[in-house]
Amino acid sequence: MNALVILHSYLRWIILVLLLASIVKSYSGWKGNKALSAGDKKLWLFTMISAHTTLLIGLILLLFGSMGMFTTTLEPGTSVMKDAKLRFYWVEHPTMMILAVVLITIGRGQAKKTIADAVKYKKAFWFFLIALLLVLASIPWPFRQAIGRALIPGI
Ligand code: HEM
Repeated sequence: MNALVILHSYLRWIILVLLLASIVKSYSGWKGNKALSAGDKKLWLFTMISAHTTLLIGLILLLFGSMGMFTTTLEPGTSVMKDAKLRFYWVEHPTMMILAVVLITIGRGQAKKTIADAVKYKKAFWFFLIALLLVLASIPWPFRQAIGRALIPGI
């Protein structure tokens, strides 16, 4: 389970890099009125795959991890919503991240639509940008009180 947390954590950097690249490329495709390139399609696909992989591992951690729903015994009188850690890892983090993954999937889906390429780029740009903001807001950065985790686990 520890290895999965580490993998889940490292995947964050892959998602961030790919998502940022997708945003920059979509913006330049949109503003430059370019034809959708095979390279950009691939970039969008890899961005989506990295997000789906992280989501899958996240679901396993949510159920069976060190703070998993099946592996945590709540003290009598504890409320998930009143416990900052549980609220974050059981509610806020999964909800926002699932939403971000849905947006990334819709953004990547623009490549398959029968619309002008510049419109594909424009729509993908907005979906990816909002997804990036959600991911950035929902990562347990080290400076976040009570829920903060290492930037690079093990270092
Ligand atoms: C797709 C974007 C996601 C990113 C970038 C992300 C990122 C992270 C990071 C950086 C951590 C801290 C890991 C550490 O301790 O070093 C974490 C923990 C965690 N994440 Fe995610 N996450 C994502 C999606 C999800 C989803 C969709 C779920 C649940 C459905 C989830 C569930 C969890 C849980 C339960 C933990 C705590 C694991 C533990 O300590 O046992 N994550 N996530």
